Amino acid sequence: MMDNHANASRTLFIRGVSMAEFALPQHSKISGKARSYPGAGEAKAPKTFKIYRWSPDDDENPRFDSYILDLEDCGPMVLDALIKIKNEIDPTLTFRRSCREGICGSCSMNINGTNTLACTQPIEDLRGAVQITPLPHMEVVKDLVPDFKHFYAQYASIEPWLKTKTPPPAGKERIQSPDQREELDGLYECILCACCSTGCPSYWWNQDKFLGPAILLQAYRWLADSRDEMTGERLDQLEDPFRLYRCHTIMNCANVCPKGLNPAKAIAEIKKLVVERDI
Ligand code: SF4
Ligand code: SF4
Ligand code: FES
Repeated sequence: MMDNHANASRTLFIRGVSMAEFALPQHSKISGKARSYPGAGEAKAPKTFKIYRWSPDDDENPRFDSYILDLEDCGPMVLDALIKIKNEIDPTLTFRRSCREGICGSCSMNINGTNTLACTQPIEDLRGAVQITPLPHMEVVKDLVPDFKHFYAQYASIEPWLKTKTPPPAGKERIQSPDQREELDGLYECILCACCSTGCPSYWWNQDKFLGPAILLQAYRWLADSRDEMTGERLDQLEDPFRLYRCHTIMNCANVCPKGLNPAKAIAEIKKLVVERDI
């Protein structure tokens, strides 16, 4: 699942025929020696958090460490638990966060099998032990911190800013009607957390070329903007068997988005624009 994989060679067989051979990078298997940190002895509401740990600073494989917190003495969200663990039990635990209110997108991670934001995920909605790993299918920098370099490079590739060919009306701003502005609803709210892209099977296997749901939703945000005058050029850049057409409408992206957005719909709108201009 993660990177940092063991150098084991694996062969994929389909109907008995050898199709491809994969060499996994070093330190991929979660086989490091797990550590358990005892909770407060008198905990009234004990809860176990099993957290993925990996550091580039030693030669160890990843592991899950277990921490027990008393929920009576902890804030309500998973991010509150992570902060409490870091502050009071294990300062080496590494994760990203900033706003603590679902706005910055920093604290995206996989919690009990679902990509989401730690700061808006109530602990009380999670049954049993809470298992936390970094977003899947991204390189791991350390512990719960994935490497967003490629994701941000893909974002830059769609040139996410207003592009025009004509000058604005003398002394005036480029205005929109309320209806034109409404076209951006469901798009501008994206916080680039990557929960959708790293939950998309097509992105897992083709992320070197497929832009993925988050970046395509952002691409549509500029196509849908009545003030932007580069629609043709933007569509030229997207019309490609991989960049756009690796989306097979599996809908994981819409199911997982913590902001309730629907990247699959935005991708369908881009495909419609491509078809309409080719008629
Ligand atoms: S709808 Fe498209 S982008 Fe969304 S998860 Fe499925 S394949 Fe990925
Ligand atoms: S569409 Fe939703 S899940 Fe995807 S990056 Fe934007 S906010 Fe995150
Ligand atoms: S800390 Fe900003 S979205 Fe979670």
